Amino acid sequence: MTPVTYFPHKNNEMFVEDIAISTIAKQVKTPFYCYSSTAIETSFQDYQNAFSDQDTLICYAVKANSNQAVLATLAKLGSGADVVSMGEIRRAITAGIPADKIVYSGVAKTQEEIEYALSLGIFQFNVESEPELELISKVATSLNTTAAISFRINPNVCAQTHEKISTGKAENKFGVPISKARLAYKQAASLPGIKVQGVDVHIGSQLTNLAPFEEAYQHIAQLVVELRADGHDISVIDVGGGLGITYLDEIIPSKKTYADMVKAQLGHLNCKIIIEPGRSLLGNAGILVSSVVFVKTGEERQFLLLDAGMNDLIRPSMYDAFHQIIAVNQESNALKTYDVVGPVCETGDTFAKARQVHQSDAGDLIAIMSSGAYGAVMSSSYNTRMLAPEVMVKGNEFAVVRKRPSYEDIIKQDITPSWL
Ligand code: LLP
Repeated sequence: MTPVTYFPHKNNEMFVEDIAISTIAKQVKTPFYCYSSTAIETSFQDYQNAFSDQDTLICYAVKANSNQAVLATLAKLGSGADVVSMGEIRRAITAGIPADKIVYSGVAKTQEEIEYALSLGIFQFNVESEPELELISKVATSLNTTAAISFRINPNVCAQTHEKISTGKAENKFGVPISKARLAYKQAASLPGIKVQGVDVHIGSQLTNLAPFEEAYQHIAQLVVELRADGHDISVIDVGGGLGITYLDEIIPSKKTYADMVKAQLGHLNCKIIIEPGRSLLGNAGILVSSVVFVKTGEERQFLLLDAGMNDLIRPSMYDAFHQIIAVNQESNALKTYDVVGPVCETGDTFAKARQVHQSDAGDLIAIMSSGAYGAVMSSSYNTRMLAPEVMVKGNEFAVVRKRPSYEDIIKQDITPSWL
């Protein structure tokens, strides 16, 4: 799936499925996020087909996009959820994802969160440290229940991705070092309220190459053999998420190629495989639609000043991420070079520098592509700008699936103390 597969131009006008983006923009006003339901469904089904001959549970990584419409779309197709907070558990359950399809990752789960997850009966905790294990044991015992656990193993593998989204090196805060894994499992087996069930690994995000996955999974396969020899009943391997997407011209292995590699590395161990994809399901299923407020001619550059900013999509300023920027209406085919920037009072509020875009005027619509994952979920109301609404499209229908708050909604969250 490329960034434009579900957002094609027809007669010089960008569509999402069967609706013109401009039709939605008229009703919803910019900026807004726009998702294609068919794109999400197709991506999910590609994973299902790729793993159809292997006992697999797809646990969508809710952090990528946690809108109820997205979660409900995936729930209907049988998805489970990989969650990292009580909030994400609540969102998943509310959208109809059953507790027994939820895996709970995260380095600093609190007692309250553990109690809540245990009370629901989630499928497994992906435990990231010995102190966390001890707390889960204590809470499970006090609730008279048992927690099914996997340790998240840190295999000390370089994911060859941006350092801020790389998680599998020894220097990262994630998981239990592989060198200490057998000891950790021994401790787990000795603690009350704990049932050892599997092994988990997640080395990073936006991987464009299978080699780091392969290396990590080889370590995991070896560990499973050792753990079984130690007497542990290992029936689940959670291979994490991380398969990348095409933002510009990256060539990404297909979901089938990825699945074949997972099966080749781990299939012989006869475990249930859990996968936790986020970006590869949602990334190219969504865009951020914005309007040009002004075209400004600086001394050295032309700026396209948009009504969307870094508060709406922080990836370019946070990770220097590249997103294609495409004019919604392309009647004129003249291209111009612009710095594409937002309204926020920071120089970092820049989506692209020296980028060729169709010549644009104030009021024209601009699409920032590949924004379905880690877009809306990372947005904020910095500069007291309102969170952009989200729209889901299916065929020729669309629905606002998160509405734009009002200024009153934002301001009334603050409380002026009585002495003022
Ligand atoms: N499982 C775990 C334990 C994770 O931490 C993550 C992502 C995933 C699965 C899903 O990974 P994915 O399939 O989406 O690559 N905000 C960053 C990405 C952060 C990823 C965090 N963990 C960005 O915008 O690039």
